[in-house]
Amino acid sequence: MTFLFARAPSIRIAPIPTAARSISHSVSVSKALPFYLNNLRSTEQNDGKVLRMLMFGKPGAGKGTLSARLVKKYDILSLSTGDLLRQHIAERTEVGRQAEEIVAQGNLLPDDVMLKVVASKLESLNNRHWILDGFPRTLGQGKLLDAHLQNQNAPLSLVVNLDVADNVILSRISDRWVHLPSGRVYNMSYNRPKVDGFDDETGEPLTRRPDDNPEIFSRRLKKFYDSTSPLLAYYASSVNKSARLVTLQGETSDEIWPQLDAAVRRSFPSIRERASSIAQRRYSLSDPFTMEQEKRAIKRAAASDGPNPSNFLN
Ligand code: AP5
Ligand code: MG
Repeated sequence: MTFLFARAPSIRIAPIPTAARSISHSVSVSKALPFYLNNLRSTEQNDGKVLRMLMFGKPGAGKGTLSARLVKKYDILSLSTGDLLRQHIAERTEVGRQAEEIVAQGNLLPDDVMLKVVASKLESLNNRHWILDGFPRTLGQGKLLDAHLQNQNAPLSLVVNLDVADNVILSRISDRWVHLPSGRVYNMSYNRPKVDGFDDETGEPLTRRPDDNPEIFSRRLKKFYDSTSPLLAYYASSVNKSARLVTLQGETSDEIWPQLDAAVRRSFPSIRERASSIAQRRYSLSDPFTMEQEKRAIKRAAASDGPNPSNFLN
């Protein structure tokens, strides 16, 4: 299946799907998340290094929460496959219809479906600082990701393993509320919304995830141990020389964040912090605000000597 990750000659996502489109640009995938990053200029590279990071950990370990804190502070984009799948489900795309029952039952989607979901998004992250949350989740996905990144000459730089005890996670999950359109995560004891039941940014209602109940959660945890945890040995092995593997442990609310911040700063000492005016927003690839920002950046680039956005923005 490696061919699915082979770099396409053109990676623009046209608004009107054509029959000739490759699998990674299928109708259902592009419908769920229109995307505008492809022709952006490269991120200013810090010390010649680009942050390409995996946020790895059990369900409920805090991957989404900590990714959001990093992208709020630094000029980084995040991509959560769980958020992407929930968007597909909400939009009733082909992938979403297939994913609905699997996600609700706490099982993993097949690797080839996940590739359809993430391939075009990964192309778009080229030369940006990025974090992947929830991908790869099997050894097969890990090898395919490596092949793809090798093809782009853009190897992983950091793998962060959030090591949180099972009993701690179980109590968190029962307190979790999410804003589905953006993926923003709240917790009634750790980070409450300003108004109970409503998203801080949009004021829209928060919901519970259907897979956040004790029975399904224990299946998700088992899947993690069976299918996902072998990836840790893979990233610790010499096969993956480029990526530093860092394990962070913590139980209470803010124990892990300073460790994570320090790990990122150590690897990327000059990584840029966001301007305070936009630091209030979560920079996720599933957040409509992000895409608006990126569209504006493309237009600014076009106004100087950048690429012509009309090729791919309509
Ligand atoms: P996904 O959405 O990725 O779920 P997950 O991996 O089970 O992880 P969670 O989102 O539940 O937890 P998290 O680590 O992000 O924790 P959070 O920050 O929310 O995937 C869902 C499903 O999609 C999968 O089960 C599968 O079916 C499918 N899928 C996705 N990717 C796939 C792939 N690659 N292949 C196949 N299938 C795939 O935090 C949890 C709670 O703890 C929150 O309430 C939060 O506020 C709280 N919290 C966080 N940090 C702290 C802290 N430090 N102290 C106290 N509370 C905290
Ligand atoms: Mg999450």
